[in-house]
Amino acid sequence: MNEEIKNCRRCDLWKTRTNVVVGEGSLSADIMFIGEAPGYNEDKQGRPFVGKAGKILDELLNSVGLKREEIYITNILKCRPPGNRDPLPEEIKACTPYLDEQIEMIDPRKICTLGNFATDYILTSFGLKSENIGRIHGKIFKASETLDIIPLYHPAVAVYNPNMRPILIEDFKKIL
Ligand code: URA
Repeated sequence: MNEEIKNCRRCDLWKTRTNVVVGEGSLSADIMFIGEAPGYNEDKQGRPFVGKAGKILDELLNSVGLKREEIYITNILKCRPPGNRDPLPEEIKACTPYLDEQIEMIDPRKICTLGNFATDYILTSFGLKSENIGRIHGKIFKASETLDIIPLYHPAVAVYNPNMRPILIEDFKKIL
């Protein structure tokens, strides 16, 4: 599947990408994190969450004793939208079959969605009602007997607003 994603031309983002960011971590992870889309640094390196938001994500993971190697991290979109604009509905539609396959393959016990785009897509795709992340961050939704969905603020919210950090830290504790 990775080769297919790396050669993908299902939407126009292939024209402006440097690298496809498939995702990384353990393929037998119990916990999966899903962000929005690669940014500048992720596009350059082909790895998820390696820029400023990634640094905050690493701190948050550290704060609850989680290591990147034991989780799996990916995004709703595998290619960077130019200028980091929001993903378009047609891009989400074209790209998320890859995410669906990744979820099926990894078969996690918990899916942590980072920000509104991932939260909307995942809750809706498991037949649950989505709401703005400001209302549902840190809540635990039962998607099935064996799968919890935990919406979290996107770590980027703490890049320019340090007041968000303690809220993120509290929410991350709910993962365990
Ligand atoms: N923001 C995201 O949502 N994903 C990344 O991989 C990097 C920044």
